[in-house]
Amino acid sequence: MTDTINVDYSTRIPNNVGLTEDRTVLRALEGWHPGYIDWWKDMGPEGFQEALVYLRTAVSVDPQGWAKFDYVKMPEYRWGVLLAPKEEGRKVNFGKHKGEAAFQEVPGEYRAMLRRLIVIQGDTEPASVEQQRHLGKTAPSLYDLRNLFQVNVEEGRHLWAMVYLLHKYFGRDGREEAEELLRRRSGDADSPRMLGAFNEKTPDWLSFFMFTFFTDRDGKMQLESLAQSGFDPLSRTCRFMLTEEAHHMFVGETGVGRTIQRTCEAMKKAGIEDANDIAKVRALGVIDLPTIQKKLNLHYSLTLDLFGAEISTNSANFYNAGLKGRFQETKIDDDHQLTNAVYPVLKLVDGKIVKVDEPALTALNMRLRDDYSEDCAKGVERWNRIVQKEGVNFRLELPHVAFNRKIGEFRNVNVTPKGLILGDADWAKVRDDYLPSSSDGEYLNSLMTGHFGVGEYAGWIAAPKVGIDNKPGDFEYVRIAA
Ligand SMILES: [Fe+2]
Ligand SMILES: [Fe+2]
Repeated sequence: MTDTINVDYSTRIPNNVGLTEDRTVLRALEGWHPGYIDWWKDMGPEGFQEALVYLRTAVSVDPQGWAKFDYVKMPEYRWGVLLAPKEEGRKVNFGKHKGEAAFQEVPGEYRAMLRRLIVIQGDTEPASVEQQRHLGKTAPSLYDLRNLFQVNVEEGRHLWAMVYLLHKYFGRDGREEAEELLRRRSGDADSPRMLGAFNEKTPDWLSFFMFTFFTDRDGKMQLESLAQSGFDPLSRTCRFMLTEEAHHMFVGETGVGRTIQRTCEAMKKAGIEDANDIAKVRALGVIDLPTIQKKLNLHYSLTLDLFGAEISTNSANFYNAGLKGRFQETKIDDDHQLTNAVYPVLKLVDGKIVKVDEPALTALNMRLRDDYSEDCAKGVERWNRIVQKEGVNFRLELPHVAFNRKIGEFRNVNVTPKGLILGDADWAKVRDDYLPSSSDGEYLNSLMTGHFGVGEYAGWIAAPKVGIDNKPGDFEYVRIAA
């Protein structure tokens, strides 16, 4: 019998899916493994492959105590295949198969659709590792360096999770897709990653924190809706991935929070009252709040594009087929088929931004995006409480959803963070007030220097309140090889 809670570490690929008895899939994954390691060495964290990093590794899928912490060299991290335990009698909970037993095999008619969903999710995982690979050398502390690497190895494991599904359920075309996932590269002109935000640069640590706050949170929303899937192996995979994802958003939220904290403390100490006096604040070697707002604007708007077009027949098809549900689908009180339901969607009508009721089925992307925005807004309020507590007069805000969009209804209009539509000439005059300018980038870059002393932190960021795994402030989270 396979132990579906604890992980079998006797095979080269740790797993709780009984790979020892599943020779075909085990061999396919073992065949894919060397290419993965090559990818990790080429595209994973630059300059730290020999360092010993204090990482958590999943040893179980039991919500109480699923991970253990230890020093490992990243290329030796035990990337494994882990699924949340099977729920007996689970059903398809929405769409036209609602009430039928959950699919344990891929339904023939949905094969292409399901493969596409898995490949799109899978493609984002290695992409962020590629985007973040150069950040190690400018880490503000060993604590932050360790958190970056934790996120990176887990994104690597998420790739394994999707590749397992491809190998196990999609035969030859699954194997081909798994190879392609190692071939595409973030930002590559010929062979980019599939989604826009995953081809952008992550030029500095504030970007990294914003990315893990905003873009990993999109990951959370996508995983939440795939965790609802009637295709049970996908649901179980995503449910366990969500356990890991929580830490990624913690890294983002506390990273930005600590940056804000440090800025406000420095302002107070220097007696600076006007948060918009950028030159004075920057003279203190901290990141002024207006620049933090601009970074927030950028990463939020880039991430909104990941939700796709406002009106999407694909999302309706995924839902009808029972493959991708809504956020917390089973907690929603309706028919879970949405035959006659409508959902309000912001659209551009005669040059104005207006709310229009659309069939709920084709507006599913917007529903998920609205749930996402609500989740983001709560985090922004937690940041504002830090500002308030320090007695600084400034408020961070999410920009309007039409701001800086490249996909959907608003891709061809200039919209301010408050939602005003501007002509090109007016927009050009204010653009740098709302989005990071090249001089903002230069300033941030000037702060990005590595701090590798034990218990040492860069001057622009506060130390965390609590260590990882409850370690003390002077803990050596990364032992950098001599
Ligand atoms: Fe991930
Ligand atoms: Fe993540």
